Amino acid sequence: MTTSTGQPLAAQRILVTGGAGTIGSHVVDLLLEADAAEVVVLDNFARGRMENLAEAEAVGGDRLTVVTGDINDPALVRDVISGIDVVFHLAALRITQCAEQPRLALESLVDGTFTVIEAAVAADVKKVITSSSASVYGLAESFPTTERHHPYNNDTFYGAAKAFNEGMLRSFHAMNGLDYVALRYFNVYGPRMDTHGLYTEVLIRWMERISRGEAPLIFGDGAATMDFVHVRDIARANLLAARADVTDTVYNIATSTETSLKGLADALLAVMDSDLKAVHGPERAVNGVTRRLADISAAARDLGWTPEIGLSDGLDDLVTWWRHAAQPAVAG
Ligand SMILES: NC(=O)c1ccc[n+]([C@@H]2O[C@H](COP(=O)([O-])OP(=O)(O)OC[C@H]3O[C@@H](n4cnc5c(N)ncnc54)[C@H](O)[C@@H]3O)[C@@H](O)[C@H]2O)c1
Repeated sequence: MTTSTGQPLAAQRILVTGGAGTIGSHVVDLLLEADAAEVVVLDNFARGRMENLAEAEAVGGDRLTVVTGDINDPALVRDVISGIDVVFHLAALRITQCAEQPRLALESLVDGTFTVIEAAVAADVKKVITSSSASVYGLAESFPTTERHHPYNNDTFYGAAKAFNEGMLRSFHAMNGLDYVALRYFNVYGPRMDTHGLYTEVLIRWMERISRGEAPLIFGDGAATMDFVHVRDIARANLLAARADVTDTVYNIATSTETSLKGLADALLAVMDSDLKAVHGPERAVNGVTRRLADISAAARDLGWTPEIGLSDGLDDLVTWWRHAAQPAVAG
């Protein structure tokens, strides 16, 4: 007997953990567009915001249910997951918060993910799509980096937790036949990025500075590169991973384009029609990853996913959203 591991999403009941966050809320939008019967968001609102779900509320009506709660609450998770067909698991802390509060990170990323997986098995969920990260590679040794690259260069708690999450899912696939796909996102940006939080991304700081007539500030020489991917492309990858006839596997989700921090600042200045030039400040020890460039051929081959939004259009989209929807923070 052959069984398909591809799951339809129309008329299905879906759980999105972290669904009020940046990426999760875009996944929710696409699921409602795809005619999901019900989309349940489970979010503790540590970073998530109801504003991120405004479009989903308008489009989804009573097909959208928002539950405020923690993924590390087994009774609640069991309750919420009962009757669910597909789980998109996105709830997590940011890498910087994991470094500052490793115990909270353990409870959230590791125990919380275990709780979601355990409940998914008990509820006979058909497939789990989970959010992993390029952080599992640390500073890679080969570029473009493929999914076969080892995880031993990672030295962050966040990356370790993400690698363990992938391992947990593999083990539950082996023990219980749980179907899953893990997606390793590279450097995500786009509308609904957190503008207020302590861990706000550099792009938000730069937009604030440029709009005040101040040059974007780069810590260090700006030569470090990243592989930027727009949040809507990430959300699309999530839906394709659910539908594709694949299980027990991981995919890089990136654009396979290397952009330096300096190049990013220049691109943002161009999109914001500014003549300013980026200025440099002293290097700050944030993490040791100086280069990211993904091989994304596996996702293209197996999921039919390729990125559709280039950096310039994506930054334009981010700036438009930020100008209209976000409340610029005061800090610079
Ligand atoms: N943004 C990136 O660059 C990036 C890169 C790689 C991987 N990821 C992963 O993608 C996923 C989504 O990231 P994002 O950028 O949307 O982050 P986000 O912070 O915007 O969203 C995460 C959501 O999870 C919620 N949450 C956190 N802990 C929770 C808990 N214990 N219980 C319930 N809800 C909880 C938060 O309130 C938030 O709404 C995460 O798993 C993240 O690790 C993000």
